[in-house]
Amino acid sequence: MEKIDLGIKGKKVIVTASSKGIGFATAKRFVEEGAEVIISSHDEKNLILAYEKLKTIGKVHYVTADLTKADDVAKLIDEGYKMLNGLDIFVYNTGSPKPGDLMTLTDEDWRNAFNLLLMSAVVAVREAGKRMEKDGRIILATSFTLKQPMDNLDLSNVVRLSLAGLIKVASRELGPKGILVNGIMQGWTLTDRLKEVVKNRAKNENKTEEQVIDEVTRDIPLRRFGTPEEVANVIIFLASSLATYVNGVLIPVDGGAIRATL
Ligand SMILES: NC(=O)c1ccc[n+]([C@@H]2O[C@H](COP(=O)([O-])OP(=O)(O)OC[C@H]3O[C@@H](n4cnc5c(N)ncnc54)[C@H](OP(=O)(O)O)[C@@H]3O)[C@@H](O)[C@H]2O)c1
Repeated sequence: MEKIDLGIKGKKVIVTASSKGIGFATAKRFVEEGAEVIISSHDEKNLILAYEKLKTIGKVHYVTADLTKADDVAKLIDEGYKMLNGLDIFVYNTGSPKPGDLMTLTDEDWRNAFNLLLMSAVVAVREAGKRMEKDGRIILATSFTLKQPMDNLDLSNVVRLSLAGLIKVASRELGPKGILVNGIMQGWTLTDRLKEVVKNRAKNENKTEEQVIDEVTRDIPLRRFGTPEEVANVIIFLASSLATYVNGVLIPVDGGAIRATL
């Protein structure tokens, strides 16, 4: 099959939270397309493992940054921009917030989630937007909980929802400079983290892992979890030369799991 030119070869890219899971798969797709990529996470050991895998494919660098610290985020964008000698595409992904509900989460948990899920995104979008030129792309990976709250994930249900507002305002404010800002709402995606969630739920509910998977996927029209690569492909599309008039939107990548019609 003839390969479609996505216009990504040679682009300078930063992907946050990319030592594992969805972030790693996204960074890998960019490297495979010939981009020069900076990966980042807060655990240097994981980051080096990811770097070792990606450097056999193409151009990659790594910078450690803890997304709960605004200074780290600003430093990542600044250092990344200097290392790459420019910035064309910025993909924001994060670690998961702590599970819990209104009655069990502490004030400290809410403050941490604010830093991890919102403040890091605000600083990152601002700092990346400042440095980008015409045809820059900013893509935020959020969650399908923006459309459909999930029980016991209140930090995500509440705090992450504000990313929808951030994407909208940033798309309006950066649009005139020719920078496109969009997001995705990924659904159940089979990363190591999800495997862990399944294992824990099976243990807590005294069920087999197969039973848990069956219960969850029964509610997904495609009857299966997505793969990190399937999520990465939509991010790549938004970053590509195929998506030049898509701005300020949030695209679900959830196999149809979100029940809302609009
Ligand atoms: N998988 C799903 O089903 C699903 C569904 C909806 C939404 N999401 C959301 O999508 C995001 C990615 O999920 P995933 O399944 O790919 O998770 P994952 O496999 O656990 O990967 C998370 C990544 O975030 C990094 N990270 C964690 N805390 C960080 C911090 N404070 N600073 C910098 N990096 C940090 C981790 O790196 P280090 O540990 O190396 O620092 C790792 O690279 C999460 O926010 C998750 O809530 C996932």
